[in-house]
Amino acid sequence: MSDIDVRADRLARVKALTDDGTFTEFGSQARHHVHAFDMQRKRPAGDGVVTGVGRVHGRPVALFSQDPTALGGSLGETHASKIARMLDHAARARCPIVGLLDSGGARIQEGVAALDGYGEIFRRNVQCSGRIPQVSVVLGPCAGGAVYSPALTDVVIMQRGKAHMFVTGPRVVKAVTFEDVSLADLGGADVHAQASGVAHLVADTAEESLDLARRVLGFLPGSCWERPPTYAPGDPLPMPEGGGIPDDHRMPYDVRLVIGGVVDAGSFLELHERFAPNIVVGFARIDGQAVGVVANQPLVLAGCLDIDASEKAARFVRMCDAFGLPLVTLVDVPGFLPGTGQEASGIIRKGAKLLYAYAEATVPRVTVVLRKAFGGAYIVMNSKSLGADAAFSWPGAELAVMGAEGAVDVIYRRDLEADPSRRDELVARYRAEAMAPHIPAERMSIDEVIAPGQTRDVVAATLRSLADGVEPTYRHDNLPQ
Ligand code: HXC
Repeated sequence: MSDIDVRADRLARVKALTDDGTFTEFGSQARHHVHAFDMQRKRPAGDGVVTGVGRVHGRPVALFSQDPTALGGSLGETHASKIARMLDHAARARCPIVGLLDSGGARIQEGVAALDGYGEIFRRNVQCSGRIPQVSVVLGPCAGGAVYSPALTDVVIMQRGKAHMFVTGPRVVKAVTFEDVSLADLGGADVHAQASGVAHLVADTAEESLDLARRVLGFLPGSCWERPPTYAPGDPLPMPEGGGIPDDHRMPYDVRLVIGGVVDAGSFLELHERFAPNIVVGFARIDGQAVGVVANQPLVLAGCLDIDASEKAARFVRMCDAFGLPLVTLVDVPGFLPGTGQEASGIIRKGAKLLYAYAEATVPRVTVVLRKAFGGAYIVMNSKSLGADAAFSWPGAELAVMGAEGAVDVIYRRDLEADPSRRDELVARYRAEAMAPHIPAERMSIDEVIAPGQTRDVVAATLRSLADGVEPTYRHDNLPQ
């Protein structure tokens, strides 16, 4: 796929993002009024940023697109004021704002006026948070404090090889830490997709990056006061036999196959695919309705919750709640990841974010326990006690304070010291008497035990039953975490 050449047409990117013929530019003649450093000789029309309104999937969006061909896309007072006005416009129009970032950062000649320009943008990003969707597509440099505008938005998309995001560049890093690091290794798309979690999505070309932005917008309402858009209902992919769960409960399987058997075929858009892959989050549709899916991934760390997974899922849950997307949670979690590293890094404080996000959420919330739901992680993963509207379990699942082996070691310690050969018998007894899903079903912690093949229909029916009960409204912001 070819890339988009802004040198030939400075509107090329906004045209690629918006529906054909729908883009209307505002401020094409805006220019800076700076005299210092001979700046009167460099006054490009538009001041290095294209701003305006258009439509995506027929629905209104506001947008800005930094133009690297004019003053390096650097941000001065006029440039910033154009972006701030688009944010104000989007807030008033109650429509999403999409920012295409490609800039040398604060315009050096404008000094504090440029820095204040960033402050004006950041303040508006925060005021819009949770009210209108904000999507950032980074197609070039985004350095210094400039990175904090995308970081305040809901979804960040980066173009591999072109986008670089860092607070301090390679030269400063070298001066301070003596470390030699390339642009790509410091702030390239792969670093942010895998290690830092800054990027939700990555694409190889500008065109693909903008396509991803269009896909993201296809799941989100214009604002929190509107319902998400609906599409023609689709059928799911076939659910794997027995849900694809291996006979040996310690063996991994790919939870994305289960997701495929629940959501409309082809609708799943995974976010943060390579960051904290022990939990899977993404947008999808069920019966044509947008939903957010959260699922433990047994393929990685046995699906344990750790700090990164908790923060990743927490922000996703809060974003879905802010924009009225029902939550479907698929649970197969042996617990929180044990270890001094996690404890010292704050798994208590950071794990609490996911718990908080679920407990706070008022959108429809459905949970299905696939295989394991143990201890605190059982509660955190949208249990009924945290306010899930409905919780289901597959028949072979185990729900308990802890796994059978560990439990037996605690409660039968004396018996096992007296007769170690009783271990298997006691484990089997614990499994039968304390872990089977009919036990939580009797006390209504689980609403129904359902076969894997029923899952899509039961989840869809539950969501349909709740669809009219939740009015679109402002719930909360989408605080970065
Ligand atoms: C003013 C700038 C500029 C800047 C680029 N230009 N960045 N002018 N302020 N920040 C100008 C160049 O002088 C040049 O002008 C034109 O844009 C194109 O730049 P080139 O360097 O020729 O382009 P390229 O080789 O593609 O390199 C692009 C670049 C590089 C990697 C972005 O320009 C660069 O490193 N710029 C500085 C980046 C930076 O350190 N920014 C400050 C970050 S701190 P002419 O007239 O020659 O065409 C920051 C703080 C924000 O932004 C704080 C927010 C709270």
